[in-house]
Amino acid sequence: MNVTVIGTGYVGLVNGAGFSEFGLQVVCADTDQEKIDGLRRGELPIYEPGLDDLVARNVKAGRLSFTADTAEAIRSGLVVFIAVGTPAADDGSTDTRFVESVSRDIGRNADGYLVVVTKSTVPVGTARKVREWIQEELDARGSRINFSVASNPEFLREGAAIADFMRPDRVVIGTDPDDSQARAILKDLYRPLYLNETPFVLTNVPSAELSKYAANAFLATKISFINEVAGLCEKVGGNVQSVARAMGLDRRIGNKFLHAGPGFGGSCFPKDTLSAAYFSKQLGQSFEIVEAVIRVNRRQRQAMVEKVLAAVEGDVSGKTIAVLGLSFKPETDDMRDSPAVYIVEELVERGASVRAYDPQAMAEAEKELPPITLCKDAYEACQDADALVIVTEWNQFRMLDLERVKSLLRKPILIDLRNIYEPDTLREAGFHYVSVGRPDC
Ligand SMILES: NC(=O)c1ccc[n+]([C@@H]2O[C@H](COP(=O)([O-])OP(=O)(O)OC[C@H]3O[C@@H](n4cnc5c(N)ncnc54)[C@H](O)[C@@H]3O)[C@@H](O)[C@H]2O)c1
Repeated sequence: MNVTVIGTGYVGLVNGAGFSEFGLQVVCADTDQEKIDGLRRGELPIYEPGLDDLVARNVKAGRLSFTADTAEAIRSGLVVFIAVGTPAADDGSTDTRFVESVSRDIGRNADGYLVVVTKSTVPVGTARKVREWIQEELDARGSRINFSVASNPEFLREGAAIADFMRPDRVVIGTDPDDSQARAILKDLYRPLYLNETPFVLTNVPSAELSKYAANAFLATKISFINEVAGLCEKVGGNVQSVARAMGLDRRIGNKFLHAGPGFGGSCFPKDTLSAAYFSKQLGQSFEIVEAVIRVNRRQRQAMVEKVLAAVEGDVSGKTIAVLGLSFKPETDDMRDSPAVYIVEELVERGASVRAYDPQAMAEAEKELPPITLCKDAYEACQDADALVIVTEWNQFRMLDLERVKSLLRKPILIDLRNIYEPDTLREAGFHYVSVGRPDC
């Protein structure tokens, strides 16, 4: 079976490489010629553990190729995945411009039956529009080609994307109830996972589209929930890690996503919660919980800036702050909507000089951040800084040489926004230590 993936970002590239690893013939297309040229030279545009090997192996085997010729790629695929970005517009709605553009490309170029699959996270009802956009273009050229539209939302986590593709918790496939042909093709496409006993949710299109938003909104809710609990802990002398453990041991709740911190970020949760709130309102039923989750997340980011300010006597103006971790989470170079970006911008705005280090996001940082000093490692960042802030919990920050850090800092102040150190240890090491929702603060 020939598969085409349009949009070669985190999702498209992982899916393209993953399906080719199943033995399928895959073409990945993207309008970004530079990205395609790089991929053809074997250079990956993103950092994702294990992806370089997976891509190289399948390119070498002749199963995976890259092109900027979207029209040709569309003609070669029985299944065409739409995996382009769906950013948030200013009003919180989802900008589906790229999805429309690809859909129209499909209508203009398809030359036989195909199954068009929305992999991008798109508001409920978008698959219906995809069908209309394709049909309009087919009609415009007098074509009577038959096609199916299905929804197959992506649940991968950046940093663990290969494992999530190969061993997903579930695969969700939404098709029109009477479209047995599309269902059969997509089941066949995922046969290796079927044989693995991966759970499949075969449903209609709106349910598949909504399941992605419901899942992300729920995970974001857990994060905002525990962050509010952390705030309460700070008021009453509690320890949010004990409370989270007590909660998480209840199997109905589970211990995942109950880590207090600077709030959620990344390319998905912020825009997907905004989108869910927006389209729910459009449907005449506001999504009250999600609206609160968004507000709490904003407040949490602000509270983290306040924490830094409080640790340096209320004023960062003229001071130097070391920041460790810029990506929105470890094991990725993705800085989209990272809490670190907000915190760095706020500190710079208030007159601080920032010295920052991230194991993978330095190239992104150079493009995305206001002028700050980008350092080659954690220790260089600490040099002559008035305080150290840990924003993203990369493993290499968990065991810093504290003596060395202390000797490099002007003042031994450590603000740990991910609770990766023990307050007692840090206090014994002579630090003024601040964390989130623990009795030290
Ligand atoms: N990144 C994640 O962890 C993740 C997880 C689940 C779902 N998603 C969803 O998947 C979608 C893609 O996300 P991403 O992070 O891979 O985005 P991305 O920005 O990394 O990649 C999108 C790619 O699409 C390309 N593109 C845009 N318009 C195009 C067109 N008309 N034709 C061909 N290519 C085009 C861009 O050049 C870019 O390379 C989004 O809807 C996102 O919400 C992302």
